[in-house]
Amino acid sequence: MSDTATKAKATNDIKDIRLADEGRRRTEWAERSMPVLRQICERFTRERPLAGKRLAACLHVTTETANLAVALQAGGADVALCASNPLSTQDDVAAHLVKDHGIKVFAIKGEDHATYYEHIRAALAHRADITMDDGADLVGALHMIALNRLDDLAPPVRKWVETLSAAERKALVTGVIGSTEETTTGVIRLKAMAKDGVLQFPVIAVNDSQTKHLFDNRYGTGQSTLDGIIRATNLLIAGSTIVVAGYGWCGRGFAMRARGAGANVVVTEIDPMKALEAQMDGYRVVTMEAAAPIGDLFVTLTGNVEVIRVEHMRAMKDGAVIANSGHFNVEIDLEGLKKVAQGPVAVREFVEQFQIGGKKLFVLGEGRLINLAAAEGHPASVMDMSFANQALAAEYVVNNARKLSKDVHRIPVDLDEEIARLKLQAMGVAIDTLTPAQRKYLASWDMGT
Ligand SMILES: NC(=O)c1ccc[n+]([C@@H]2O[C@H](COP(=O)([O-])OP(=O)(O)OC[C@H]3O[C@@H](n4cnc5c(N)ncnc54)[C@H](O)[C@@H]3O)[C@@H](O)[C@H]2O)c1
Repeated sequence: MSDTATKAKATNDIKDIRLADEGRRRTEWAERSMPVLRQICERFTRERPLAGKRLAACLHVTTETANLAVALQAGGADVALCASNPLSTQDDVAAHLVKDHGIKVFAIKGEDHATYYEHIRAALAHRADITMDDGADLVGALHMIALNRLDDLAPPVRKWVETLSAAERKALVTGVIGSTEETTTGVIRLKAMAKDGVLQFPVIAVNDSQTKHLFDNRYGTGQSTLDGIIRATNLLIAGSTIVVAGYGWCGRGFAMRARGAGANVVVTEIDPMKALEAQMDGYRVVTMEAAAPIGDLFVTLTGNVEVIRVEHMRAMKDGAVIANSGHFNVEIDLEGLKKVAQGPVAVREFVEQFQIGGKKLFVLGEGRLINLAAAEGHPASVMDMSFANQALAAEYVVNNARKLSKDVHRIPVDLDEEIARLKLQAMGVAIDTLTPAQRKYLASWDMGT
C-alpha cells in the first residue's frame, strides 16, 4: 500500500500511544472540575441523543476536550478529533482517547503545516453528520470544496479532494446537517459566510452563549494567558508595563489578571466604546505607536491582523517581549520582523530572540496563542460551561437541523441559563427567586411612586 493510501486508512495519528496512562490521569483530574458536563454525559449515556451520528471535531486536544469527546461518544456519536492549532495538542491526552476510548485522533503537538492539514483531511474523511470547530478550519475547508475553490485548500486536503468524484465531494458537504463553532474568530468567519449567502448548513455559535464568552473568554483567557507567559519566561509581572491590545472579552480578562499580579497595564483599542470602558476601568489607553516605546510585554487579543507591525517593533525597548493570545498567529507581523531582523534564535522553550538594530526582542510561542502553546489552555472549571454548550449544541443540531436556516444561530437562551443554574448548583451557590409581587411588578407598567 502506498504511503498516501496507508495514511488515508489510518484511524489515528498521534505521537506515542505509551503516553495514554498519563493522559488518562490528567483527564480524570480535569473531569473533577467539570460537573455540568458530567451531568450531561450521564444523561447522554441513558438517552443516546447522538446515536448513529458521525461527528468530526477540530478542537484544541486538551484534557477538557477529552472529557467532551467522551461525553459525545457516550451520547452515541462516532467521534473523530483533529487539532485546531499545531501547538495546542497534549500528546498524552491524544494517546488516552485512542487507547482507552477508541476515538479517532489526528493530532501531534508541534506538527508542521502539512501535517496539520493532513489531520484536517483525516477529520473530513470521517464524512461527518455534525462538525465542531474552534476557528472554523474544518467548515472553511468544507466550504472551499462546496464552492469548488480547490486552489484555496491546503495541499494535503486538495490532493485528497481531487481523488474524489463530484458526487463524493457533494456528499461531504450535503452530509453535514449542522455545525458548532467555539470561538470569536470562527464566528466572525461564519457570519461573513452567511452574509455572502454561501453558508451551506446551519451553525450554532457556541461563543455567543453567555455561559461561554462571559467566562471562558474573560476568566479562562485572562488566567491562562498570564499562566502561559509566566511558564514560558518566568518573568516577574509586578512592576512591569504590560500593553494589552484589544479590550474585548479576552482582553478585559487578561488586563484584570495582569493588574492583579502588579503590572501597570496599558490598553490599545480601535473601538471607542471599549476604549472608554478601559479608560474608566482605570487603565491607560493609548495608540500602539505610543505604547511601543513604553511596554515591557505586549499581548495581542484582538482576532485581527497586523496589530503589532514592524514600525511598532522598531520602536520597542531592548528586551521587550511579545506574545499573542488571539485565535490565529496573524496579530504580530512576524513575517515582516523576519525580513528586517536577525533571528529567530531559540533562547528557551517558547522564547525566540530577534535582533533588530542594536536591540533584542523576544517573541513567545511563534506568535500562536500562548495560553495553549506554553500552558494548558483554560482551566477545566471554565471549559465545563463552554463544553456543556458544545454537547447541548450537538444535541440541538440533531433535534432541530431541519428547522434551522443556513445561518449562524445561538443556542436557545433557556439552555444557556440552565448551564448557569447547574454550574451555580455545583459550586454550592444558592440564589433568590422572584416573589409573586416582584414578578408582577417587573411585568407591569402602571405602578409608579
Ligand atoms: N487564547 C484563547 O484561549 C482564546 C479564547 C477565546 C477567544 N480567543 C480569541 O481571542 C480573540 C479575541 O476574542 P474576544 O472574544 O475577546 O473578541 P472581542 O470581539 O470581544 O474583542 C476583540 C477586541 O479587539 C479590538 N480590536 C480589533 N482590532 C484591533 C486593533 N487593531 N487594535 C486594538 N484592538 C483591536 C476590538 O475592538 C475588540 O474590542 C479572538 O481571536 C478569539 O477567537 C482566544
